[in-house]
Amino acid sequence: MSTRGDTGPQLLASPEELDRHARELGAAISADHPDGVTLVGVLKGSVVFLSDLARHLTVPARFELVAVAPYDGAAGRTRVVKDLDRSVEGEHLVLVTGIVDTGLTADFLLRHLADRQAASVRVCTLADKRARRILPLAIDYAAIEAPDAFLLGYGLDYAGRYRNLRGLWTADAAALADDPDRYVAQLHGPT
Ligand code: IMP
Ligand code: MG
Repeated sequence: MSTRGDTGPQLLASPEELDRHARELGAAISADHPDGVTLVGVLKGSVVFLSDLARHLTVPARFELVAVAPYDGAAGRTRVVKDLDRSVEGEHLVLVTGIVDTGLTADFLLRHLADRQAASVRVCTLADKRARRILPLAIDYAAIEAPDAFLLGYGLDYAGRYRNLRGLWTADAAALADDPDRYVAQLHGPT
């Protein structure tokens, strides 16, 4: 069975470590954007990180949210399902994403934002799974250099589960495919 080797989820970053990363990236983004910044969060995986990151900024910040339909491997394309709802012309944007894996989603969104006459566009990710990159992508701010493993928690999901975990975990993707709820009791249970 595909799940035989499953050793269970492993903690990759504790809530305390994640808070430290949010604080450090908040300071870096503030230093780079002294006149303020517009955080463009990618739904839904970025929202927990975005919330913590934003509260560590020392400059004024606006929030915008975008959503894309997950790309279809076969068709090789994605599409915007929730777009910016106002002009961001002249603003300094930071695209905030939960994870950059192949880079297809972030690359698509950067192209999508490119014709909005923003003053600048930078990229901030909670997790950078660099080993999986298909498209070269300049990431300006990354909290976690992630291993080539499936990540859960702190906004990241498997089939909608696990987003509200306070830590970031690695888990066995084959075991989750077998049963998406496999780790619910373990990870959400009393600690
Ligand atoms: P991309 O391959 O960089 O385009 O990433 C596509 C999307 O896949 C991400 O925005 C996530 O929603 C999802 N994803 C990729 N890797 C993981 C993971 O390890 N955990 C949870 N979601 C992931
Ligand atoms: Mg997801």
